[in-house]
Amino acid sequence: MLNIENLSVSYKSNRNNVHALGPITMKIESGDIIAILGPSGCGKSTFLHVLSGIIKDYAGQAVLNDARLNPKIHNIGFIPQNFGLLPWRSVEKNCLLSLKIKGKPYTEDVKKRVDYIINKLNIAELMDRYPRELSGGQKQRAAIARAFIMNPDLLLMDEPFSALDALTREEAQELFISLWNQYKPTTVFVTHSIEEAIYMGKKIVIMSNTPGTIAEIIENPLFNTENLRQNEEFLKLSSHIRNMIKEGWKHEIKEEN
Ligand SMILES: Nc1ncnc2c1ncn2[C@@H]1O[C@H](COP(=O)(O)OP(=O)(O)OP(=O)(O)O)[C@@H](O)[C@H]1O
Ligand SMILES: [Mg+2]
Repeated sequence: MLNIENLSVSYKSNRNNVHALGPITMKIESGDIIAILGPSGCGKSTFLHVLSGIIKDYAGQAVLNDARLNPKIHNIGFIPQNFGLLPWRSVEKNCLLSLKIKGKPYTEDVKKRVDYIINKLNIAELMDRYPRELSGGQKQRAAIARAFIMNPDLLLMDEPFSALDALTREEAQELFISLWNQYKPTTVFVTHSIEEAIYMGKKIVIMSNTPGTIAEIIENPLFNTENLRQNEEFLKLSSHIRNMIKEGWKHEIKEEN
């Protein structure tokens, strides 16, 4: 369980103070997959940077399984928008990096898991290449492989599929969900796509304008439904969320003026 209480972030410089996020209070159950939707600049990446340990200066609390969130204690996987592959390492070395950092022995069981993930994501042929020799979709799959191989307590993804064309994107989402169903890491991901939030989010969190707070949490009744994209309910829910977002953000802009 990830327990977030009154979490807020201000960016401080000698010129000014920007209140970028919060306060946010929410509980994320183990094995949840949370989609975060919100307007540009509302603090979504900031939120992930706190959860990944990149931002340490924040107010409030984030507690994962009874310990304050800490990348030294917890195994946290983060896929940033540019995939975060190290350009000077081959795909294989990128994928195995977390095991190396954590000093995990490469046992038969670990090797089986690694082989399974790599084959599932269809990147076995690419292991000797370097990130610059991959297409966007291939980089994406390598980044997903790396994240699952580390077997994270918490998996974070910042607009993970936004750089992909529509079909590659749907394929990546499907691969992700089928792997997720197998290992069920607790996952928080940010997206600008309502369809992606419905396809991949067990819960959908809608954030308000800057500084972002939680406007709404929707339990997604369509999560893990087969052939979801052809389902009429899928279109209904996405138009409902679209209207809610439009109304919410209009409302706030009026209140601000
Ligand atoms: N290093 C920084 N210093 C000062 N302000 C920052 C810094 N990084 C982000 N901000 C501000 O904090 C707010 C939240 O930024 P953040 O990147 O978290 O937004 P976001 O919701 O991820 O936006 P987008 O959807 O465009 O990626 C914005 O107003 C941004 O201008
Ligand atoms: Mg962002």
